[in-house]
Amino acid sequence: MAKVLGVINVKGGTGKTTTSINLAVYLAALGKRILLVDLDPQANASGGLGIKLEKDHYSIYHALVSDVEPGALIKKTSIFNLDILPSSESLAGANIELVDFKNRELQLKKVLSKVKNNYDFVLIDCLPSVGILNVNALSASDYVLIPVQAEYFALSGLEQLISVVDLVKKYLNPDLQILGAVVTMFDKRNQSDRNILNQVHKNFPGYIFNTVIPRQVSFAEAPSIGKSILQHDPYSKGARAYRELAIEVLSRIFPSP
Ligand SMILES: Nc1ncnc2c1ncn2[C@@H]1O[C@H](COP(=O)(O)OP(=O)(O)O)[C@@H](O)[C@H]1O
Ligand SMILES: [Mg+2]
Repeated sequence: MAKVLGVINVKGGTGKTTTSINLAVYLAALGKRILLVDLDPQANASGGLGIKLEKDHYSIYHALVSDVEPGALIKKTSIFNLDILPSSESLAGANIELVDFKNRELQLKKVLSKVKNNYDFVLIDCLPSVGILNVNALSASDYVLIPVQAEYFALSGLEQLISVVDLVKKYLNPDLQILGAVVTMFDKRNQSDRNILNQVHKNFPGYIFNTVIPRQVSFAEAPSIGKSILQHDPYSKGARAYRELAIEVLSRIFPSP
């Protein structure tokens, strides 16, 4: 049975999409069957993997608000073992449309239950909000993985997210677990970045992954040419870091005895 990982933060620009894509790619490279679900109306995950979408294409939106079968929406990527369930701009409307649904918080869980048995992991690239779409993502997830940008305001975002996770655990998904937070865009030469890393470790002991993702220009270039870091800059520190993160994720989910 697939494990579902929500890649989430209430803040924008923290590396959620970069982490979703590259973690998905390295888990696939380690032999896992992966479905990446793009739950952001900005639909960056598809483009970042080189998937071209037609105008008015069907997307996760149609599976959420009407009875379109999600299996028909899934696309293969150029990476072996990695499929994607694309998003579209129309998903922005789901925030309002879902309000009238019975079990509106559980629509994504229902959609994913129809396809997740074909995979080892489902990763959800979330949007930055505390709205109904992310409540759906948290209700459908077994684990939460939080990309935290090395910056001064990172801690407040983390606190807010952890309180939303606690609410979802209480009312909707008691088995939800925080797998960890990963610090992204880290510049080790920068004193302020090092202070922030110390601070997140001090404030959230045990939560923070050992792997830290460095700031690296090729991460910003890669999506514009539709490539993951494994394809664009495979021998870089950043590529190694995402490979290590994939291994650390596996060891947190399946601890060896
Ligand atoms: N480790 C990194 N080094 C340099 N740039 C990065 C890194 N991770 C992400 N970026 C860039 O920062 C911006 C925000 O990242 P993104 O993954 O899209 O964040 P989010 O999905 O949280 O909004 C993008 O332009 C992305 O290419
Ligand atoms: Mg994003």
